[in-house]
Amino acid sequence: MSDTKGTGDMSAQAAGAKGFFLPGEDQEAFAKIVEKYPTKRSALMPTLWLIQDRHGYISDEAVTWTAEQLEVSEAKVREIISFYFMYRDTPQAKYVLQVCHNISCHIMGSRSLIAHMEKKLGVRRNETTPDGMFALEGVECLGACGMGPCMQVGKHLYEHLTPEKADEILDGMRRGELLPADTDRDLED
Ligand code: FES
Repeated sequence: MSDTKGTGDMSAQAAGAKGFFLPGEDQEAFAKIVEKYPTKRSALMPTLWLIQDRHGYISDEAVTWTAEQLEVSEAKVREIISFYFMYRDTPQAKYVLQVCHNISCHIMGSRSLIAHMEKKLGVRRNETTPDGMFALEGVECLGACGMGPCMQVGKHLYEHLTPEKADEILDGMRRGELLPADTDRDLED
């Protein structure tokens, strides 16, 4: 089994195992990820992150596709997904709202922020709204302690949150608009 660097023909890789595919610009993003690493298998985690960012979770079909593209076993792909809790292998809410409740954000008001969001969304922490639109999670440090309270939605980080700013963000999502984040953590750049 080869483990050498090489992206091959990415257009040919669009259609993958059992119908999974990466559309247009995502093929380019995938090619860029693979090029950054000395071996294909080293690109496993950012590839999974890319898939999850675009599809919301990593399906069985995506596991097979990833294993084929990166020339690793499906067992290896599943091992990574199950080890790191940020990877999801089942469909999730459209927007997973991860609000930091660690010490710095706590001091800067994350508790009252989360309480406000619970009330607005009608769910408790770690629950999903009945329409499947929002999941509200309390998470540990997001690495932006000076900008708290903060919330991560996929690769998007919202900082210095207030209840009013959270309302704006949630109302935008309900309209299908994602308000510009304070920081975008695009791993494929
Ligand atoms: S404590 Fe919230 S980002 Fe670090």
